[in-house]
Amino acid sequence: MCGIIGYTGNKKTVPILLEGLRTLEYRGYDSAGITVSEGGRLATVKSKGRLSDLEARLAKSAELMGSCGIGHTRWATHGEPSDTNSHPHATENLALVHNGIVENYAEIEEMLKGAGYTFVSETDTERAAKLLDMFFAKSHDPLDAISRAIKVIRGSYAFGIIFKGQEDTIYAVRKDSPLIVAHDDEGGFIASDIPAVLKYTNKYYRLDEGVIAKVTAHGVSFFDEKLSPAEQKTETIDWDIEQAQKGGYPHFMIKEINEEPEAIRKTLEPRIKDGVPYFGIEALDGEFLSQFSSIHIVACGTAMHAGLVGKAIIEKLARVPVNVEIASEFRYRDPILRKNDLVILLSQSGETADTLAALRHAKAQGVYTLAIVNVIGSSVAREADSVLYTWAGPEIAVASTKAYSVQCALLYLVAIRLALANGKLDNEAAKEICSSMLSQIPEAIESALSLDKQIYDAATKLVAAEHLFYIGRDMDYALATEASLKLKEISYIHSEAYAAGELKHGTISLITDGTPVVAVTTVKKVCEKTVSGIREVKSRGAFVVSVCSKELSEQYDIPCDEMIVIPQVSELLYPFPLATVLQLLAYHVSALKGLDVDKPRNLAKSVTVE
Ligand code: G6P
Repeated sequence: MCGIIGYTGNKKTVPILLEGLRTLEYRGYDSAGITVSEGGRLATVKSKGRLSDLEARLAKSAELMGSCGIGHTRWATHGEPSDTNSHPHATENLALVHNGIVENYAEIEEMLKGAGYTFVSETDTERAAKLLDMFFAKSHDPLDAISRAIKVIRGSYAFGIIFKGQEDTIYAVRKDSPLIVAHDDEGGFIASDIPAVLKYTNKYYRLDEGVIAKVTAHGVSFFDEKLSPAEQKTETIDWDIEQAQKGGYPHFMIKEINEEPEAIRKTLEPRIKDGVPYFGIEALDGEFLSQFSSIHIVACGTAMHAGLVGKAIIEKLARVPVNVEIASEFRYRDPILRKNDLVILLSQSGETADTLAALRHAKAQGVYTLAIVNVIGSSVAREADSVLYTWAGPEIAVASTKAYSVQCALLYLVAIRLALANGKLDNEAAKEICSSMLSQIPEAIESALSLDKQIYDAATKLVAAEHLFYIGRDMDYALATEASLKLKEISYIHSEAYAAGELKHGTISLITDGTPVVAVTTVKKVCEKTVSGIREVKSRGAFVVSVCSKELSEQYDIPCDEMIVIPQVSELLYPFPLATVLQLLAYHVSALKGLDVDKPRNLAKSVTVE
């Protein structure tokens, strides 16, 4: 979703803004723009399309030499992607960039029309900029104008603003949309995310809601809603710049898939103590967990699919019923939440607006909330009762891969801990699973990565498909849902995941000669049944790619056209190498089609609007 960058300092700002925007491209966008403070005036250049379109436009206009500016990549919400709708939105007095949605923009527009304002774009942001302009025109005080405007605006926002008369200063404020502020020896920054400033510093402030930041070349100051000085905590990120770059890989996605063994190690090792899961959080390590009689896992997209894996493993090991809920539905369907329920929020970014809204809803009902999040200090992490971080490092590709695998791994640990707390597993059995997780998962993923050539060959057979099915049962079905989403997201091939046993109840009518079906079989107890399902589609002409465990491939005659065999691992742990294989399959199909693997059309990495 929209990316914001701002710089004020000793250097020329345009290259810094463009570079920052490039690191934020992963968030998804359809237009871009910058405003630079240039000899006492605010010069704005913006363009529909990619950053290269903006650069082409900049190359045609007089060179901007200023050392203070703001930049933006826009993911359209109000109004189509166009030059006029792109940000910054400028007035006589100011230029503003925005990430989020101003919900009461129509009301604000009416108010502004009364004051004589007219509008050129369809955006909610232009209304916000003009509201701010109206207040600023009265007081000529940026802080006063911002504090008045945010009292009127409803919705979500991260704003970066430059005012006439203070052209070397950037102001920033946020609510429900992420924004960080940083400073190095030579200047100050605002940004939507850490990679945009990582080249300059690994220290930053994650702006608290409602706090206004004033950033100059010499330092940063913060103000609360009464405009009194406010304190903000500095945070330090231990990623380095290489981690946020491709490091020799053609795409971030393939780099991130290759990082899975390490991400799993980093996530698991510190969480296993004396052989059993240990989170270092009182509420999760003791008897407290045994009080929960049911669990809701709430998330969006890939994280929601990790929730399906979590449901399967928690129900299997701990015998506690789990509902997996789509966050955007959860809040509005008024879910039944009881005192002894646990709500687990899964999110890579920790900023997904739907997940955040679901978390707030659960908290308002007085239910205990646990967040499993990758981004330290993100909104979901900060607001939940407790948080477990997945130490996956930065995930840049829009299509989530390593974050999914580590979410699944953490849910396994939660399942074991719950099972210990309610007596469904004894210490020895828990130790055995933990030890096999530590010793087998990273290695199993390495083996899956070594199947790359074979997976590539299978991908070449799927490139021309218009429709495709993934089938599996039990845990394999959970994995199939994510495999199908991955393929859809990055290859634009329509695909569906079906429980193998359900296919015959309708969808099999879509299977004709050559219809590709990816059949997943790693769960022993249902393998025979899955194989029957595969026979059903094969006999109707399907082109079957079988992804199966070594054991089951030897035990059963699986009818198929292509076979990818996953090297042996404890049965409970197949989801991990399986996820890697299915991610690689989607990756190769997309790359073979020559698509923009890391930045698929219309998608945003972090969806900060509901
Ligand atoms: C967006 C992304 C998906 C992602 C989902 C949840 O829709 O395009 O790839 O799975 O958000 O993101 P989260 O950061 O909450 O895990």
